[in-house]
Amino acid sequence: MTYRVGEVLLSKEKIAERVASLGKKLSQDYAGQELVVVGVLKGAVLFLSDLVRQVDREVHLHFDFISVSSYGDSTVSSGIVKINKDLDLDIRGKHVLIVEDIIDTGLTLSYLIKLLEEREPLSVKTCVLLDKPERRKVPVPVDYRGFEIPDEFVVGYGLDYAGRWRNLDEVFVLHTD
Ligand code: IMP
Ligand code: MG
Repeated sequence: MTYRVGEVLLSKEKIAERVASLGKKLSQDYAGQELVVVGVLKGAVLFLSDLVRQVDREVHLHFDFISVSSYGDSTVSSGIVKINKDLDLDIRGKHVLIVEDIIDTGLTLSYLIKLLEEREPLSVKTCVLLDKPERRKVPVPVDYRGFEIPDEFVVGYGLDYAGRWRNLDEVFVLHTD
């Protein structure tokens, strides 16, 4: 099977506009508060780096990263997650915002919420660039959402297939030939 990057689903302009409005919302919601933005490696790196630059200085913002993967080799996510890289920061008593590239089944985010809540932060909220609601297996509160997209596999702007195409600056549909 060969894979080919197809049509643009989200252009640079569309992404930038949405990221700016999410940043503005975060600036209002967390004004005067201490916030730890937790990026989920590696997919969320580009989104996070654009997003935090749209949050104003009234938010006392830190960012950190976590890396997780599913156990086993099943292509269907088990929801059982292994931590490859944990946070460096202590989140106890702080507001936390988990930033993820995409929510699909919801298993990864639901695990992460539970994991971070055990550390007694002040709050845990979620921010995803893309949401495929049709694919959800477990309910997860999505507090900040970039775009709802149909059930298609997408790459670019951090999202990959087998590690490739994360560097593209727009989101594309991936096709198989
Ligand atoms: P979930 O646990 O099923 O919600 O999985 C979310 C993870 O699946 C994301 O962090 C992505 O790594 C991956 N994923 C789901 N859909 C896509 C897609 O369309 N393109 C690239 N990665 C995807
Ligand atoms: Mg990912």
